[in-house]
Amino acid sequence: MSLQYQFPSDFWWGSAASAAQTEGSHNGTTGRTIWDEWFEKEENRFFEGVGPKETSDFYNRYKEDIKNMKEIGHNTFRMSISWARLIPGGEGEVNEEAVTFYNAVIDELLAQGIEPFVNLFHFDMPIEMQEKGGWENREVIDAYVTYAQKAFELFADRVSKWFTFNEPIVPVEGGYLYDFHYPNIVDAKKAFQVAYHTIIAHAKVVELYHQNYDGKIGIILNLTPSYPRSENPADLKAAHICDLFFNRSFLDPVVKGEFPEDLIALLKEYDHLPETAEEDSVLLKENTVDILGVNYYQPRRVKAKDHAPNTEGPFMPDWFFDNYEMPGRKMNVYRGWEIYEKGIYDIMINLKDNYGNIESFISENGMGVQDEQRFIKEGRIEDDYRIDFIKEHLKWLHRAIEEGANVKGYHLWTFMDNWSWMNAYKNRYGFFSVNLDTQERTAKKSAYWFADVSKQNGFDH
Ligand code: BG6
Repeated sequence: MSLQYQFPSDFWWGSAASAAQTEGSHNGTTGRTIWDEWFEKEENRFFEGVGPKETSDFYNRYKEDIKNMKEIGHNTFRMSISWARLIPGGEGEVNEEAVTFYNAVIDELLAQGIEPFVNLFHFDMPIEMQEKGGWENREVIDAYVTYAQKAFELFADRVSKWFTFNEPIVPVEGGYLYDFHYPNIVDAKKAFQVAYHTIIAHAKVVELYHQNYDGKIGIILNLTPSYPRSENPADLKAAHICDLFFNRSFLDPVVKGEFPEDLIALLKEYDHLPETAEEDSVLLKENTVDILGVNYYQPRRVKAKDHAPNTEGPFMPDWFFDNYEMPGRKMNVYRGWEIYEKGIYDIMINLKDNYGNIESFISENGMGVQDEQRFIKEGRIEDDYRIDFIKEHLKWLHRAIEEGANVKGYHLWTFMDNWSWMNAYKNRYGFFSVNLDTQERTAKKSAYWFADVSKQNGFDH
């Protein structure tokens, strides 16, 4: 008998993680990234002064971790390869120790029947590349393409799902608009140039992959639906512009091969169009993705501005909308983010209706919790709140699939509690908790629940 929420038999059940957040930098085994640099300069901006060095030591404990993945029913796992580990300095010699490590991880995953989904760039720019201007500098694209080429040469014989970037808009927002990523610049013109070059870098790597390999290549985007406060035209317009800046700026070029006309017109009007090269539009048109990873945590609620923006100051996307704190919205009180499960369905139906029903999967969804130790009972974290969170999202995902959305899987963020950029270990997301003193891993209640769900391909209620 089938379950009430029965997923397709080949559904991808797994979790996602990134190199910089899990491996630990283990001095000498890897090059430095912008995170090492920023931590050295401004340690106080990192939660409890904890930097990127130690993390959860996947570098030495990957076998145990992959065994745990197997035990909780994973058939897929999203990891990333660290550019700075594979090619310290960003250009030049490949680091043989890194090759040995990533070969061992990939082989171990495959031996356990877990398909590796490999992402290339997850916020971890080698510092030397940033010193050259990072994505502001078009030349850095060539170094990134060479890095991707190396990764394909080394691992594409066993990996057939590749992703160019994780949430490429986050370094744009954090590094060039809102000061929460290095290099902490606030300059919209640079921000749009960085975004544009990232998209060109992505398309070049898609082209390279398609010319030489048969697997699938895509990108991972954090699609955050923008819901207007009301049907009032001013609110609708605010939500539309917000959607253009924060979703469609990446979604349209990577899936449709072109930027939204409204976005181009708006940037033109305010003299903020990035510099482009003549060949770019053909490159984008011909190199759209095979597969799209969708990260979804929370929606964005948007309203028209209460007051005219101060257009005397530097141009900002926020000139056109304000965030709206909708009364009565459901919150994850342990992280301060809204929970809106139907958002996952709205995203998938939008992809079905407006983006050619591109093959997709949830590449991150999850519930961050502060001070999660308070939920320990008899040695284990009883995270019923996380089970509810996942379950309610899965119900909406199931409905989207029933209605024809081309959704192939669900990955939780994340497999085990890990270090997270400025927030370090503040918000815990894992199926496994990690004791940072001993590195001991302990499955949370949600891990057992997820094991049942993935083994049965669904659940009843
Ligand atoms: C995602 C990122 O957006 O959010 C991850 O891809 C990150 O790298 C995760 O760790 C959680 O963020 P935070 O700030 O709640 O720890």
